[in-house]
Amino acid sequence: MTLKNRVAMSPMLMYMAGDDGKVTDRHFVHYGARFLGGVGLVMTEVVAVDPRGRISGHDLGLWSDGQIRGLQRLTAFAHDCGTKIGIQLAHAGRKSASQEIIVGPSALPYGDFPVPHELSTREVQELVVAYRDAAVRAVHAGFDCLEIHAGHGYLLHEFLSPITNQRSDEYGGSATDRAKFALDVITEVRAVWPDDKPLMVRVSAEDCIEGGLTLEDTDDLVKDFISLGVDLIDASSGNIAPGYVGDIFPGYQAKYSRRIRKACGIPTATVGSISTPEVAEMVVSSGSADLVFLGRALLRNPFWALGAAKAAGVELDLPIPTYARATGPYERGF
Ligand SMILES: Cc1cc2nc3c(=O)[nH]c(=O)nc-3n(C[C@H](O)[C@H](O)[C@H](O)COP(=O)(O)O)c2cc1C
Repeated sequence: MTLKNRVAMSPMLMYMAGDDGKVTDRHFVHYGARFLGGVGLVMTEVVAVDPRGRISGHDLGLWSDGQIRGLQRLTAFAHDCGTKIGIQLAHAGRKSASQEIIVGPSALPYGDFPVPHELSTREVQELVVAYRDAAVRAVHAGFDCLEIHAGHGYLLHEFLSPITNQRSDEYGGSATDRAKFALDVITEVRAVWPDDKPLMVRVSAEDCIEGGLTLEDTDDLVKDFISLGVDLIDASSGNIAPGYVGDIFPGYQAKYSRRIRKACGIPTATVGSISTPEVAEMVVSSGSADLVFLGRALLRNPFWALGAAKAAGVELDLPIPTYARATGPYERGF
């Protein structure tokens, strides 16, 4: 996949899908503004593989064929604008706020959320199939790349972390067994996701709490991901349990993408408090990441890439070139 620049919009849940998990007009305005703004890769917000896996009642979903059409129109719009578009697939697990009965690897609640139903071995296997089926639908919808969300305390991360996974079947116990769910999902998704399209995984590189996943655990995990055909690691951190407050500064998570890139030899993306072109440039030129994911900076300003190109003195390939006039010298009206 060749991008026109290394600016990527990070997945951001916008709470504007219908109750049916389908795309609405608001998605076209929201994502469309970033297509027109020259972003190289736009990632969708989290898209649920199962109705019980929605974070909110207004998440996008891809658990049924009827949900393909709206996403297909969105990818066609992106391509018409010369923008690549990726989908983030996930299941919220015990952090779902949309369901009466929520599920997780073990009956351990997240903060004051309800106690989750411990998924049976069979239910875990059914979810592996749900990920695969959603990936097949994502192929039909025309996405350029696919990211599996295995971080931020959602279901796959809940299985990976010893904090949340106390199972005694083949999906719990040792680090290898806790990884089995994620590895099964990656195997099944890779089998149906086209070879020439990148498969990415978002990880929380460390849990940042005692007894949680460490950087060394993540190195081992990422090596397994690579052996199954994962092409890029999107390195975030934390969120397995409430209460962690770490230092946040521009590019604070670049140390994770850098470490994984060097230790595991795989392209990486970084994300986290990057809002200026200078920090984004430093992250890439220092070899800390191959791709820069921007979240809130692109919420504030869909034309962030236009300003960054102006600052760098390069011309941006814009779908509507007239926008470039906004950064030129003062013009008299005509
Ligand atoms: C409104 C909002 C929604 C988010 N939704 C998601 C999501 O759907 N999936 C995800 O992996 N991260 C999500 N995040 C986290 C962002 O992708 C990103 O990792 C985080 O905001 C840090 O980057 P930033 O400082 O550039 O915003 C969300 C963040 C925000 C602000």
